[in-house]
Amino acid sequence: MPSRYHRLDRFLSQVLQVSRSGLRPVLAAGRVRVNGVPVRDRQQRIGPFDRVELDGQPLQSEAPRYLMVNKPAGVVSATSDDQHTTVMDLLPASQRQGLHLAGRLDFNSTGLVLLTNDGAWSRQLSQPQSQVRKHYRVTVEQPLTEAYVAAFSEGMWFAFEGIKTRPATLRIRSAYEADVWLCEGRYHQIKRMFGRFDNKVLTLHRLAIGHLVLDESLAPGESRDLMPGEVAGIAGLSSRG
Ligand code: URA
Repeated sequence: MPSRYHRLDRFLSQVLQVSRSGLRPVLAAGRVRVNGVPVRDRQQRIGPFDRVELDGQPLQSEAPRYLMVNKPAGVVSATSDDQHTTVMDLLPASQRQGLHLAGRLDFNSTGLVLLTNDGAWSRQLSQPQSQVRKHYRVTVEQPLTEAYVAAFSEGMWFAFEGIKTRPATLRIRSAYEADVWLCEGRYHQIKRMFGRFDNKVLTLHRLAIGHLVLDESLAPGESRDLMPGEVAGIAGLSSRG
C-alpha cells in the first residue's frame, strides 16, 4: 500500500492492475469515491489514510493509529528481535499489524515510547534533529553539581557525528537525580553527556515527548491509544521545564 501522497490514477492503476487510460471511463462515471465524495480528477492526490472506494467497495481504508507504551527495562525498541522481548511484543498480537516505533529508548531505559502506522507523524518526531522536546528523569552514580547544568546548556562536541549538541536543560532534583530536556535524540545521548563527567547513568526514564506526558496509570509494559488532542498536540515544546 502506498505510504505517502500519490496521484489517484497511479494508485488505482496499481491496485486494480488497469492502465491509466483504462481508468478514464471509470473516473468519468463517478464510480470512485474518496472519503465518500465522487472524484473525477485523476490527478487528485490521496494520502495513506484517505478512504478510497470503487462502486462502494473499499480499495484503501486504513485508519491512522497512535499508541503510547510504558516501556520496561530489558525490552528492545524494535519490532522484532531474536533474543529479547520487543516493544511490539508488549501489544496483543491483534494490534500489531502495520505499526512501527516513533523513536527509541535504550534496552535498559524505561518510559514513554510511541507506536504508529503514520510514517509522516513518526518522521516528524524521531529524526535525530527533531525539534520536539523530550523530558527524561535520570539517576546517576556520582553526585551532581552546577557544572552539569552549564555543560548541558552549553552543548557538547560529539566527534562521531561531528556535531555540537543543542542546548539542553538539566535541573538537579537531588544529589543523584536530575531532569533533562533534550531537543534532539542522538545515539545514547544522555549517557554520553553524563559520561563526559565520568558519571554513569543508573536509570533513565522518559516522562514526556513534546506536550505528550506518559500516562501514570500505565504500568510498565502497558499501552493505550492516544487521544486525538494528544496526536495533534505533540509537536512543540514541553510545557514543563
Ligand atoms: N539517551 C540515552 O542515552 N538513552 C536513551 O534511551 C535515551 C536518551
